Amino acid sequence: MSRKPIIAGNWKMFKTVSEAASFFADVKGKAEVDGVESVICAPFTALPSLVEAAKGTTIAIGAQNLHFEDNGAFTGEISGVMLKDLGVKYVIIGHSERRAYFAETDEIVSKKVHAAFKNDLTPIVCVGEKLEEREAGETKNVCSVQTVAAFQGLSASQAAEVVVAYEPIWAIGTGKSSTSEDAQDVIGYIRSVIAGLYDDATAAAVRIQYGGSVKPNNVAEYMGQQDIDGALVGGASLEPASYIALIEGAK
Ligand code: G3H
Repeated sequence: MSRKPIIAGNWKMFKTVSEAASFFADVKGKAEVDGVESVICAPFTALPSLVEAAKGTTIAIGAQNLHFEDNGAFTGEISGVMLKDLGVKYVIIGHSERRAYFAETDEIVSKKVHAAFKNDLTPIVCVGEKLEEREAGETKNVCSVQTVAAFQGLSASQAAEVVVAYEPIWAIGTGKSSTSEDAQDVIGYIRSVIAGLYDDATAAAVRIQYGGSVKPNNVAEYMGQQDIDGALVGGASLEPASYIALIEGAK
């Protein structure tokens, strides 16, 4: 089963509309490489203009969150219906920052994954352990629990479309990346968990990214591992040259 590599930039709470436009103008035509899917996950405010700018390019635009209901009295929230209407293709769900700072539970993550599919959005579901969990030898258990919850109630054809991002929390924004061998070990395990939920063919179709201090100079190392299909990148996705180098490095 050949899986198309996918590099997704997660801008987090960075970039105004004009900064996003300037970034896109710089990467257009350059962060577009045969055989690598390029995704920019921007703040909600920048999504309409980015979707417009990305028309006719191979760069997909993603959101960083959604609410699990289609609409309602949820002040400040954005739904899958709204993202679909904009033309957004991907949505990050269950990022560790959302789990830590916005009390997102596995149950909420599952509801959001279903909301994404209901609205034709492809979920990029984040899983990963805290430092103390790693030190306690709980990494695989934590990732298994989070993965099982995220795939809860999905059909095999939906499951095959999910993008999983394995992000050890201690590696996010710290410059301390997991070794590619350790990341492969956990990601291979996550794939086996998915195989247990469905079957080998479904698990073989799921794209699993590594995330956590991925840079242009280490992306190829991760891509060289058999189960690693790309990267979810924070800091290094914010500068055009660096983002282009990440896409190039994933070839
Ligand atoms: O979503 C991206 C991750 O949180 C990784 O962030 O590349 O800045 O370590 P980072």
